[in-house]
Order: sequence, then structure tokens, then C-alpha cells
Amino acid sequence: MTSLAIHHIGELATWELDRPIRHDAAVVLSDGLVAWVGDSADVPAADSGFDAGGRAVIPGFVDSHTHLVFAGDRSAEFVARMAGEQYAAGGIRTTVAATRAATDAALDALARRRLAEALRQGTTTIEVKSGYALDVAGEERLLRIASRITPETTYLGAHVVPEGTTAEAYVELVTGAMLARCAPHARWIDAFCETGAFDADQARTVLRAGMAVGLEPRLHANQLGHGPGVQLACELGAAAADHCTYLSDADVAALAESGVVAGLLPGVEFSTRHPYPDARRLLAAGVRVAIATDCNPGTSYTSSMPFCLALAVRELGLTPTEALHAATLGGAWSLRRADVGHLRIGARADLVLLDAPSHVHLAYRPGVPLVRQVVLAGRLVG
Ligand code: NIG
Ligand code: FE
Repeated sequence: MTSLAIHHIGELATWELDRPIRHDAAVVLSDGLVAWVGDSADVPAADSGFDAGGRAVIPGFVDSHTHLVFAGDRSAEFVARMAGEQYAAGGIRTTVAATRAATDAALDALARRRLAEALRQGTTTIEVKSGYALDVAGEERLLRIASRITPETTYLGAHVVPEGTTAEAYVELVTGAMLARCAPHARWIDAFCETGAFDADQARTVLRAGMAVGLEPRLHANQLGHGPGVQLACELGAAAADHCTYLSDADVAALAESGVVAGLLPGVEFSTRHPYPDARRLLAAGVRVAIATDCNPGTSYTSSMPFCLALAVRELGLTPTEALHAATLGGAWSLRRADVGHLRIGARADLVLLDAPSHVHLAYRPGVPLVRQVVLAGRLVG
């Protein structure tokens, strides 16, 4: 058993219930876990020591929503949107064509490159979806690739109806042969419940089929307009309803009552010019909130949790501390993970040393690479 003491931490966010943020703190990591948290002056002996020099330490980010495994580029769509065009769900098919044409090795390398990007920016837990193949072998291939880089894999065969088939026939495939091949490689089941993708009945059929074989539900909901997605997520007891851009009062009440986590993905509003959701409204109602990147080539091609956190402060109305909470513990709630997203004793030792005296700088100094050191399960990784 080897232990590492990180001392002289100027500000340490642990999310301990009595003292969520400490000052002049230290933390001891042992066997990949947080073994001790306290004042820097009281730090116990450890096998090795690391002087944080008064910098801030935060839990590693938990990115609870990404589409990392894809090929191709849709920057032309982005340019058109910035010139005033609207985003439509159909653009997904462009990425499907590029992804189907890519070799296993190319897709694996692309996913790993984006994963490395995310890690350098402090992400230590990441969810990755399929959804850019839309055929049986292809969706299974994407999930095999995803499961090599994370245990948080999501089967999103129901991303959009591919060309050359009907919605009815495709839902049958997604809930039949495709599910059988994909379920062994996935923890979660998801659907894009939206105009231009799947309606509530179709999304319900897909999620129920996944749940029947042991997958846990989460949902793309209320991204492009007021739709039935949030209510469906609450009805099914999903872990998360992600996007939540357009919410009625009844949607907010349902989220609060059900405990379904509202996943806010402000990179999408940045990149589509849709209005940002109001996170204050959700917190005021008692809704649990997560911030995630939604890293994908169509609506949010960023792997940066610090960028999304800064947007959450500036545009969603969160304080810097609430935004950090949503990007760490909120993400852990979204993924039903008790071991990450915080630095209480017993947590996995995933933490980020910032080149800043406080986590506030993540929003106060947007775009500045403040991640100095990342520790993943007790090991220095970057
Ligand atoms: O989360 N909403 C559905 N899926 C992605 C967009 C996918 C795409 O346009 O390629 C999203 O925004
Ligand atoms: Fe998404």
C-alpha cells in the first residue's frame, strides 16, 4: 500500500456535507482512494508528499453526456448556423455516413484522442454513447470501442431513423436484434426524443426494451422545443433527462418530484444559438442538476468541462461553486456513481490541481488552461 499526501492546498472542494470547501487543507491518497482529508498543518505521514503551493484542488470532472466515437467533421454546418441557419436533427446522418466508412482503428484513435483531450482538461469520469452507426454491427462496434475507454457506455441506437427505412421498422430493430448485440457492451439505454427523431411512444418502447434486459435509462429530452421527453424520463425513473433547454413549469415540477437529474449541456446552446436553459429555476425548485459537454460533431464539439462550467456561470445563472458542484457531484448523480465527483474519505482519488487559488477562476478566467495536474485513481496522469 503506497500513500501520497498533497499538502498546502489553498482551497479544497470535497463536497463534505459539513464543510464542502476547505482552506489550507491537505488530502492523503492511498490505494487509489481518498484516505484522509483535513488541515494542512495536521497532515499525517505518507510514503510521499506533494506541495500544492497554495493552489486549489477540485474533484475530477464527471462528464455525464458525450458522443465521443465518431468520424468526420461538420464545421460547415456550424458556419451556416453562425450565419443564421437553424440546427435540425437530420445532420446526424452526415456523421453516420462518415462513421460507417471509418475503420475500427481510425475510430478507436479518434475516440482516444478526444478522451485524452478531456483528461487534460480535468475529466476523470466520462459517459460515451453509440448512435452514429444505426445498424446492428455498427452500433455494436461503437459500443465495443467505447467500452475500452469507459464503463459508462450508452446504447443510443435510437438517435435518428436512418435513411431507407421507416420509424416503425427501425424501432423494431433497435429493440430487437440491435439491442441483443449491443446490450452486453452497454450500461445505459438512451433515445433522442425530439421532433425529427423519436416521439414519446417510440422512445418509451426503446427505453422499456433496454430496461427489460438490464440497461438503465437516460434520455435526450426537450432540446429543440417543448416536448414530452422530460415527462417520459420522469415516468420511467430515468437517471437523467439531458438538455432540458425548453421546460414548462410541469416539467420542472416532475424533475423535482422524481429526482431525475437535469443534465444541462450549454455547449449545445453555444453552438446552435438556442436560448440557454435557466439553471436557477431548476435549483430553486429542488431539481438535481448536472453540467456535461455533450461532445459531438453536430451541436457541441467541445471536450472541455471548464468551458461548459464557465458557460453555466455566465449564461445559466449558476454561481461558480454551484457550477463546479454540477460538473462534478452532479455528473456523478447523473451516472448513479457514489465513488466519484467528490473527495470525501473513501472516494476514488480523482482530483485536479488548478493553476489558480480558487475554483472561481474556472469561470473568472474562461478559456485559460488552468488544469495543472490530474490525478486518476491516485495516479498522476497529466
Ligand atoms: O446531443 N441530440 C442528439 N444528439 C446530439 C446531436 C447529434 C448531432 O447533431 O450529431 C446532441 O445534441
Ligand atoms: Fe447528446
